[in-house]
Amino acid sequence: MTIASRAKKVTTHTLQEMKHEGEKITMLTSYDYSLAKLVDGAGIDVILVGDSASNVMAGNDTTVPITLDHMIYHAQCVEKAVDRALVVVDMPFGSYQGDSKTALDSAIRIMKETGGHAVKLEGGIEVIDSIKRIMTAGIPVMGHLGLTPQSIYKFGTYTVRAKEDLEATKLLDDAIALENAGCFSIVFEKIPAELAKKVTKSLSIPTIGIGAGPDCDGQVLVLHDMLGMTKDFSPRFLRRYANLGEIIDLAVKQYIVDVRSSEFPNEDEKY
Ligand code: KIV
Repeated sequence: MTIASRAKKVTTHTLQEMKHEGEKITMLTSYDYSLAKLVDGAGIDVILVGDSASNVMAGNDTTVPITLDHMIYHAQCVEKAVDRALVVVDMPFGSYQGDSKTALDSAIRIMKETGGHAVKLEGGIEVIDSIKRIMTAGIPVMGHLGLTPQSIYKFGTYTVRAKEDLEATKLLDDAIALENAGCFSIVFEKIPAELAKKVTKSLSIPTIGIGAGPDCDGQVLVLHDMLGMTKDFSPRFLRRYANLGEIIDLAVKQYIVDVRSSEFPNEDEKY
């Protein structure tokens, strides 16, 4: 029996044990009750209420505009649906940078108002004071290094990060600083697979990759991307496990035809 199959409720300790035993961790995003119920029911280990909700749910170009109130709303919807997975909630841009007291207040709001189990925030040594202060309240923190979309205006593009030695060394230093500060896990986004492998090996906490190769301790994808609901986003790392976009398109078109032709509702579909 695996650790994941034994876990009635996944905790940060379950993830730690999974890393220890070499069992891969599965993580997907969710932002609403209905999809979170399906994702949790299918047996995912971690549900991330990602600030990618800004793109996927609100149609923004970046994750910068989403607010703490929006994230709390999404996390409340998800939390109601989840029985087993660990629910990690992204701290949005502006809710933790710069001032560790603001970070603590934001994280407390998330935990108190949503019932989520942990928070995630982007960055390394620059945000270490915020991470430590959040942890004084007993709130588990997941880090996020590599491509950090909240800093898109600093990077200028969404291309692979840490290809050069200097940035790769900083990423390793940041990862060690996050582990030493007490983070229970770190997401690596869009970094070279070899670097992700090396850093994963040098950490005792689990790493979760997105576009970071096969040697992270787990993998995460944005649910709507892997279900084929977002058409215009096709990075190399994305595997589409379904084509729901096409299925929804066909279903809606058929509904339009049926209503227009009075084919729907029929005799059995009325009272
Ligand atoms: O917001 C999000 O969906 C994320 C994942 C890309 C890891 O942070």
